[in-house]
Amino acid sequence: MPKAWLQERKRDYYYKKAKEEKYRSRAAYKLFQVVEKHHFIKKGDVVVDLGAAPGGWVQAARRIVGSKGFVLGVDLRPIEPFPEHNVRTITGDITEQEALQQILEFLPRKADAVISDASPNISGIWEVDHARQIDLAQHALEIALETLKPSGNFFVKVFQGDMLNDFINKVKQYFEVVKIIKPKASRAKSSEMFILGLHLR
Ligand SMILES: C[S@@+](CC[C@H](N)C(=O)[O-])C[C@H]1O[C@@H](n2cnc3c(N)ncnc32)[C@H](O)[C@@H]1O
Repeated sequence: MPKAWLQERKRDYYYKKAKEEKYRSRAAYKLFQVVEKHHFIKKGDVVVDLGAAPGGWVQAARRIVGSKGFVLGVDLRPIEPFPEHNVRTITGDITEQEALQQILEFLPRKADAVISDASPNISGIWEVDHARQIDLAQHALEIALETLKPSGNFFVKVFQGDMLNDFINKVKQYFEVVKIIKPKASRAKSSEMFILGLHLR
């Protein structure tokens, strides 16, 4: 069977599943798959989700942390509010200091996990998109270092490219275990990957 056809079918599968199960994006399944394997978000956890609109990861994280946890979503775009009392959202730019201040104000305590699916508008120029994505990932890392509790976890989207190794080495300076991940729900042809940093030193 042609690879493109298989990929298209996979894309449809998660798209339809998200619609049926009322997730705001198919991306929710990427988070579920990686958490199921690596257990970096648990019941009762406080989670910060960067680049969170429309809110698929927020929903997935809320499902994992349950009613005693807390999920804070941040995005440049306003996120339609959630009915749960322990889910909050902020409209803000994660590259600005102000967003960090707002996150610190909203959090009930230091976070157990900071996750980031933030992505720039894709220009189609591979080097530009890679550099912008790494810049967002660096800002996500800075926010993680300010908001995570000791031994907290960090999960961030990156695009493959020549700046990636330096970024991974940076994450390794701060986290005891670092893994490079491509979830099943992520399209094989996309250059997107995720870096998981476990146990902030
Ligand atoms: C792939 S989407 C996130 C999807 C989300 N994880 C979900 O499951 O619904 C990437 C998001 O990153 C956001 N973003 C890009 N740059 C940002 C920035 N500087 N600050 C905050 N959010 C940003 C975009 O507005 C976009 O909504």
